[in-house]
Amino acid sequence: MAKRIQFSRTGGPEVLEYADVTPEAPKAGEVRVKNHAVGLNFIDIYFRTGLYPAPGLPSGLGTEGAGVVDAVGEGVTHLKEGDRVAYAQGPLGAYAELHVLPADKVVKLPEAIEFETAAACMLKGLTVQYLLRQTYRLQRGETILFHAAAGGVGSIACQWAKALGVKLIGTVSSQEKADLAMQNGAWATIDYTKENVAERVRELTKGDMVPVVYDSVGRDTWETSLDCLQKRGLMVSFGNSSGPVENVNIGILNQKGALYVTRPSLNGYADTRKRLEAMSNELFEMLESGKLKVDIAQRYPLEKAGEAQEALASRKTTGSTVLVPAMQQDTQATQDAGQSQDAREPVKEAQEGQAAQDAEQSQDQDSRA
Ligand SMILES: NC(=O)c1ccc[n+]([C@@H]2O[C@H](COP(=O)([O-])OP(=O)(O)OC[C@H]3O[C@@H](n4cnc5c(N)ncnc54)[C@H](OP(=O)(O)O)[C@@H]3O)[C@@H](O)[C@H]2O)c1
Repeated sequence: MAKRIQFSRTGGPEVLEYADVTPEAPKAGEVRVKNHAVGLNFIDIYFRTGLYPAPGLPSGLGTEGAGVVDAVGEGVTHLKEGDRVAYAQGPLGAYAELHVLPADKVVKLPEAIEFETAAACMLKGLTVQYLLRQTYRLQRGETILFHAAAGGVGSIACQWAKALGVKLIGTVSSQEKADLAMQNGAWATIDYTKENVAERVRELTKGDMVPVVYDSVGRDTWETSLDCLQKRGLMVSFGNSSGPVENVNIGILNQKGALYVTRPSLNGYADTRKRLEAMSNELFEMLESGKLKVDIAQRYPLEKAGEAQEALASRKTTGSTVLVPAMQQDTQATQDAGQSQDAREPVKEAQEGQAAQDAEQSQDQDSRA
């Protein structure tokens, strides 16, 4: 048996169950990955709550992870058992010890990149790759607005923009998050819970405003984002952290300056194996060159996925969060001896909690015997 997180109905974090499942064998064109680390993403919350419908229930959850190929289906030629790999797409079910997915969604991981780093940045990093390099191909010297700059996607965007010579104005909800965004290479920050964002963008750009806004916050920032754009600027609406943008009168794009709007997704860009490989190679080069450092600010044991999601949804996290399957936790604890105490704490607490539970259970069993 292997462990996975699944849900049989949509709702709050309490719908997530830590279940035993019989490991599936990969079918033709598929591989099975033994996950060393799993990435936590806002999209996982959309599936859990039902904002995005899961294909069927009960359903697994999660699409981002890194580990070792543990079984290979017929016809797969580019991967073999034992390969170190990472992935960010495919069927829901990455929140698991073992995950079966189409081999063409899986890329080999360079030796120099650790599993946790890959799990923390495959989805978020590939997203930043397409946002900054494809949706709007940024040029050195440009100034942009990027919302939620201290989050998982945002922390990577700050560093990538800096590497491109782009001035990123990042929005954040606290001084601590502002400091973090600046450390990651943001050019300026705005606290969108206190300041008038469009006015501040006008000041910072000396009246020019910006050619592109990257907005993953959605409902709460939609109109403000349009107000920050230059004439004929591009609004990139790529997420719903505050809720989806609804009931838009398209005429607003004309009123605010003949604007363009796009609603992209990773699957819309990494839609072929060739494109996925090219995007991943660029991400891996950023990591290997040291221009991009992934901040794993939170780490949770897999069974605490609900707690991790709650922290993400309630704006308590910064940077990336990874979930560590039980079979990897001991190894990880040793490897991460140099990491900050805060980041290690949730795993350690859960291990202690599990030890206490195990002790209780064995006491129960003893008393029944
Ligand atoms: N389209 C795509 O291809 C794609 C791919 C990956 C991610 N995304 C989207 O990108 C966004 C970021 O994803 P992530 O996983 O890296 O998450 P994240 O940015 O680490 O977390 C979301 C952040 O959004 C901000 N936020 C503003 N209003 C919020 C609200 N009402 N509730 C919760 N958070 C709010 C918070 O930062 P502050 O406290 O600083 O406001 C929060 O930390 C998500 O919307 C996700 O869906 C889209």
